[in-house]
Amino acid sequence: PKSLKAYAARKGLLYGSAAAYSKLSENQEFARRFIEECAILTPENDLKWHKIHPKPNDYDFSRGDWLAEFAKRHKLKMRGHTLVWHQSIPKWLKETANPQNAESILKEHIMTVAGHYQGLIHSWDVVNEAIEVRDGHPLGLRKSPWFQWLGKDYIDIAFRVAAEADPHALLFYNDYDLDYDIPHQNAKREAVLNLLRSLKEQGTPIHGLGIQAHLSGPETRFNAEKLKQFLADVASLDLKIMVTEMDVYDRGLPYDYEKRDRRIAEVYEMYLNTVLEEPNVIGVLTWGLSDRYTWLSKHRPRNDKAPVRPLPLDREFKPKLAWESIANSF
Ligand code: XIL
Repeated sequence: PKSLKAYAARKGLLYGSAAAYSKLSENQEFARRFIEECAILTPENDLKWHKIHPKPNDYDFSRGDWLAEFAKRHKLKMRGHTLVWHQSIPKWLKETANPQNAESILKEHIMTVAGHYQGLIHSWDVVNEAIEVRDGHPLGLRKSPWFQWLGKDYIDIAFRVAAEADPHALLFYNDYDLDYDIPHQNAKREAVLNLLRSLKEQGTPIHGLGIQAHLSGPETRFNAEKLKQFLADVASLDLKIMVTEMDVYDRGLPYDYEKRDRRIAEVYEMYLNTVLEEPNVIGVLTWGLSDRYTWLSKHRPRNDKAPVRPLPLDREFKPKLAWESIANSF
């Protein structure tokens, strides 16, 4: 096979990537390479609250609809990202929501957005990043606006409404910092597991865990056994698992492209070889396909200001060592 999606398919897995409407629609070569490599697409920002629900009574489905049409035309599956998050909350919502009205605002948003894309979405990240152990809540819940307005029930509510709005989509909880053997991440895995367990006990309609996997090139405290145990614990709750947003940042790695690319490829291979041992893992997505378009240029710029190289394709859409690693891991 000559594409990541073909390598993945041989093992019954999905490979895909996040992409922005603005990039897929303006760069035809990028769109062509995207279709060649990917079986599944996540809109990077286009379905988030501030983009899709910019005013109280105004929804803007234009970019999401273009992406859904693109996916359909090229036989890609599409993920939904995301219905509840502490970020991308529009100003109007911050100003108008309160403990009295937040539940009905949330339900209306989820019914409208998940309802609009009903039948088109493989899996929704219903709730994104609800755990932050450093916020001091006994269950590790993040003190996000939604938590402040509704308490811990907002999570269960969101999943129930999403299930009603789109009975065909798989419903995922998605989070980051679940990867390394460091105190904060060990505690976070524990808190996520407890959350998932309590949702399953309550009968919340949840079908999977999304592991973002924003990894670090320099970090060495990776522990395959601990990660596998966590995935096995998640799987034992009868939940599927997807790697939803993988990339490997290169801040702190040498400038030299060969050295840098080799380390990044090594991290991809080590991580995916471990994760893909777990049978409940159904797919891997990277948070971008090409180094030309990655949030890490802004989020994790290199100290030497050199262009970052976190993804499988280079800026000219040519496969890098990371591409080989991902292919080999399937
Ligand atoms: C990021 C986008 O890539 C950026 O363009 C945007 O400015 C901020 O959000 N975890 C997530 C994603 O779940 O939604 C984030 O995406 C990256 C971290």
